[in-house]
Amino acid sequence: MTLRAVMRGVGHYLPARVVENSELETMVDTTDEWIKTRSGIERRHFAADGELTSDLATNAALAALKNAGMGASEIDAIVVATSTPDTTFPAVATVVQGKLGITKGFAFDVQAVCAGFVFAMANANALIVSGQATRVLVIGAETFSRIMNWEDRTTCVLFGDGAGAVVLEAQEGTEAGILATDLNSDGQYRDLLYVDGGVSSTQTAGVLVMQGKEVFRHAVEKLAQTAHTALDKAGLSTSDVDWVVPHQANLRIIRSTAQKMDVPMSQVVVTVQDHGNTSAASIPLALSVAHEKGTFSPGQVLVMEAIGGGLAWGSVVLRV
Ligand code: UT7
Repeated sequence: MTLRAVMRGVGHYLPARVVENSELETMVDTTDEWIKTRSGIERRHFAADGELTSDLATNAALAALKNAGMGASEIDAIVVATSTPDTTFPAVATVVQGKLGITKGFAFDVQAVCAGFVFAMANANALIVSGQATRVLVIGAETFSRIMNWEDRTTCVLFGDGAGAVVLEAQEGTEAGILATDLNSDGQYRDLLYVDGGVSSTQTAGVLVMQGKEVFRHAVEKLAQTAHTALDKAGLSTSDVDWVVPHQANLRIIRSTAQKMDVPMSQVVVTVQDHGNTSAASIPLALSVAHEKGTFSPGQVLVMEAIGGGLAWGSVVLRV
């Protein structure tokens, strides 16, 4: 019988501080109108001083466990997707493991920037179908406000902080679960979106640098492509898709990808207006917000797709 990674629970956490576009107008040379028109973003959350990526991740994990009706002791693996870890090491996943009081199993981080959650889900799926883990917490958590260049209006207005989490469980004899994944990266484009510091180069954390227009161009081309590839692998087509849960970077990218996939916007989960771009946290945040609203019904097919620094991009097809 086929062993599948089934989504048993989902949850999220957003820091209390909400930063409206109007507040950014007082900090940099920008306007609410520009940010809304070019990106669809209206507000974002910023973590409080001393509030760490692992705190956001742990809160999201607790919400997902509650939603799954599971205790932390039932988890045997934790995969955290993040590019903004508390410290260079250990992995945020092990910090979360410690905060949840879990002393068995294993925990590690995945770093694929904005595509991180898709990469983490694909890794968790591989662990489950190969029998190496039974219940996996997959978390996307970021504090991108900490790597913004506040002198660069082209990037600092776009990003936010938050975390989302999913509990995946190994189940046999079910139609539900992860049906296919598709992962890609192409390092020749590494200079389009990067952070200009790091342990081995500058010994500083650095700030985000992006050639927005170029990334936009790749996103529009590659997101629909990866979604089609994953659907093909699952033996499905876009007409079988009930919901697209895209990376929330830019409403124009979300719209154009939906159009290329031939999926109406009424079947696309959009939270970019409230969260901004939260990198690896954006898909699980969107998933959790939609789940809370009762958007998804059992048996429905979801496609999650994302692209980010690397470039790295990919998608996951999942039946609820
Ligand atoms: O999550 C990882 C993946 N990342 C993405 O998917 C991001 C992809 N890129 C984008 O979302 C868009 O390219 C942006 C939202 C970053 C920018 O939108 P755009 O339509 O590509 O604008 P642009 O960069 O071409 O800038 C247009 C104008 C420029 O002025 P000029 O040269 O036309 O006079 C900019 O200087 O807008 C100006 N501008 C701003 N104006 C007010 C740039 N940033 C701002 C700003 N406020 N914050």
